Amino acid sequence: MKADEIRKRFLDFFVKNGHTAVASSSLVPTDPSVLLTTAGMQQFKPYYTGEGDAVRDFGAKSTASCQKSFRTSDIDEVGDERHLTFFEMLGNFSFGGYEKREAITLAFNFITKEMALPISYVTVFEGSAAVPRDEESAGIWKELGVTDVRYEGMEDVFWGPTGSSGPCGPTTEIYCKSGSGEDTEIWNVVFNQFFYNGSREDLLAGAAGKELKPLPQFGVDTGMGLERLVMVSQGVKTVFETDLFTPIVVTLPADLPERTKYVFADHGRAIAFLVGDGVRPMNKGAGYVLRRLMRRIIAQGMDTALFAAVLKATVGIYGVLYPELDEAIILGVFNDEYAKFQKTMTLGAKELGRMDVVTAEAAFKLFESYGLPYEAIKEMAPQKTASLTRADFDKEFEKHQAVSRAGAEKKFGGHGLILDTGELKAGSEEELKKVTRLHTATHLLQQALRDVLGAEVEQRGSDITVERTRFDFSFSRKVTAEELKKAEDIVNAKVREDLPMTFVEMPLTEAKKTGALYYFKEKYPDTVKVYYAGTSLESAYSKEFCGGPHVTHTAALGTFKILKEEAVSQGIRRIRATVE
Ligand code: SER
Repeated sequence: MKADEIRKRFLDFFVKNGHTAVASSSLVPTDPSVLLTTAGMQQFKPYYTGEGDAVRDFGAKSTASCQKSFRTSDIDEVGDERHLTFFEMLGNFSFGGYEKREAITLAFNFITKEMALPISYVTVFEGSAAVPRDEESAGIWKELGVTDVRYEGMEDVFWGPTGSSGPCGPTTEIYCKSGSGEDTEIWNVVFNQFFYNGSREDLLAGAAGKELKPLPQFGVDTGMGLERLVMVSQGVKTVFETDLFTPIVVTLPADLPERTKYVFADHGRAIAFLVGDGVRPMNKGAGYVLRRLMRRIIAQGMDTALFAAVLKATVGIYGVLYPELDEAIILGVFNDEYAKFQKTMTLGAKELGRMDVVTAEAAFKLFESYGLPYEAIKEMAPQKTASLTRADFDKEFEKHQAVSRAGAEKKFGGHGLILDTGELKAGSEEELKKVTRLHTATHLLQQALRDVLGAEVEQRGSDITVERTRFDFSFSRKVTAEELKKAEDIVNAKVREDLPMTFVEMPLTEAKKTGALYYFKEKYPDTVKVYYAGTSLESAYSKEFCGGPHVTHTAALGTFKILKEEAVSQGIRRIRATVE
């Protein structure tokens, strides 16, 4: 049976059994507590808690869907027989409609009758301090003739919540044999009986102040990866041998290692779907996930021609069902990112070459300065990164995200501006790029003025718009044309050196000892960011306390030009300058 037929059978089966078929929601969820849609139940969250009325919205208490889903947790396992980043999840859902008996019977009938597949075994919840052992489900399975019923714990058979809080509950899972003869989990049948006011991590750790509260109604939420079901049904050993993947895999060079082919196929397909749902490569959020996928495969040899072929095959498989897969747009986004990454990869490789061992902190800096994702760093220097783990890298990343989030809330305050730090103002992405360049130029200018005029020069103010930077500083007389020219030349020399521009975060007292310049005398928090232009903080040409944003490399500045010098008041001078 072809995958298209299986998808259709699933939905038809549940519609026949009183469910309303609901279209997949976007991979970018409306729930702000989750980055990407990871499960079919996400679009139905309000119906479990009673905030939404399923009968009003869907004409029934039960629904079914084939949901576009994405899991970053599996990213390192992609390339084995069954893990994927993007996948389609088949699911049936009930909000105060049927309960355990019907949910299990429906699943049993679909697998054993509609699909004519034997069930190897099932798992049920063994119980915990708060939730009893699920004898009821075990009993139902046995009545249906499934005798191998195994008990498992919270880690495996208690689902949810997604995001920072939500519905959750015990599950029962169905295992079938793939073409390799191995038992594979294919279907997760969740009984959403509780609401938990914390994350899944809180739940597993038994966090203080958080508790499981019974939901007002019994909820059913099932999820079955379409690719795995197809793998089992088509009797093949891996998801990549199903008709959802073979047209993609055959476009790849035959001499690539199998695992690389599978990573290319998975990531290629995932990139298409993410871009289709409006995600664009960025250094945070869903955009960061996309960038990681792109850069990971580019680092392993994916080029624009190969990507075009993978994309064409992907659109061939999914284009009718998912018209949001616009081949031209997706290719354009990939090609842009490809060009950007080529430039920075060369610089990053140089920097990597200079390191003996790559710590998590160093790896994160490489990411920040050159856009090298974790996977690319690992692939470019396997020996030096032997002890680098994803968990440690992610920790560095999260530290940084928390800091920039705190800053961003202040910045994105409305007024039609996308950036307004007080110092920098930009109304569009284009303007943002320009003011970011001018911002870095301003740092270099201050240091250059100190080089030429001495330490009397200290910042007294700065204002950056898309046209120019306006920099005020203490100095007792007019600056001569010759001195201005010298300062300008120094800045341009630093641009040509293409210094990395990056930052470290440190306690205020320590930061003051680094010799970094700072402008406000009292206003700094306990920890500050020190932005520096150079390969290390010690050897940096310019260091300043600053919240960013900055370019990652000074070559991005272009040509620096001083436009004007004048007096603002007694002892304060003003320079206007720009970059071209
Ligand atoms: N929410 C459960 C899962 O994602 C069942 O759909 O596995």
